[in-house]
Amino acid sequence: MRLDKFICHHSGISRAEAKRVLRQDLVTCNGEAVRNGAYKVTAETEVELDGQLLGEVKKRYIMLNKVTDTICSTVDEEYPSVINFLDELPNTRGLHIAGRLDVDTTGLVPITDDGQWSHQITSPKKQCAKRYRVWLAEPLCADAEQQVEQGIQLHGEDELTKPGILERIDDTEVLLTITEGKYHQVKRMFAAMGNKVVGLHREQIGEIELDETLYEGEWRELTEEEIQSVWQ
Ligand code: URA
Repeated sequence: MRLDKFICHHSGISRAEAKRVLRQDLVTCNGEAVRNGAYKVTAETEVELDGQLLGEVKKRYIMLNKVTDTICSTVDEEYPSVINFLDELPNTRGLHIAGRLDVDTTGLVPITDDGQWSHQITSPKKQCAKRYRVWLAEPLCADAEQQVEQGIQLHGEDELTKPGILERIDDTEVLLTITEGKYHQVKRMFAAMGNKVVGLHREQIGEIELDETLYEGEWRELTEEEIQSVWQ
């Protein structure tokens, strides 16, 4: 739809008024001022009139397979932000990361502009399970499964970690499922057991599994089923 028509339709102002607000630089499309009434508005365009968002904007839900040496911040710092990988998206404004990973961790990163949805994943109260594949420097100790199930005393924390599930693939490769997201939690849990994490990859959050067809750095939109799964 043309921008001038879109403005009239969603704000109720006349065609002449729409022309005026365009001339006055009061209209932005995806954050950029636009004066041309013939500008084509698509489903992805966020149109603001004098700072007010017009129309119903579809929320976005994405899974990214994070590569190492990238950060889960929306801006580049010492390392580039994972948002750089969403280069085919027309507009990344308003997106945030639902559950950060360390710079050297790979795997599933959900990205959205729906704060209530991401709260379901990140709020400690919701106890959303996250499964990690972990590679270790040393062979796993014999009672690691029990320790994880009973809770581990992390350095500097008052309480034990919540019960988790540890599945041994072999002595230096395991799957760990936890429902918390304390700072560097997985690395600290294995440090508390006298070991060291040398590789960390998130495979699953709640019911959402990392799509195996995504190469590192690739992303896709979540399916409706995946989006709804966090509300269960
Ligand atoms: N735990 C960690 O230690 N690092 C991560 O990136 C995620 C969980």
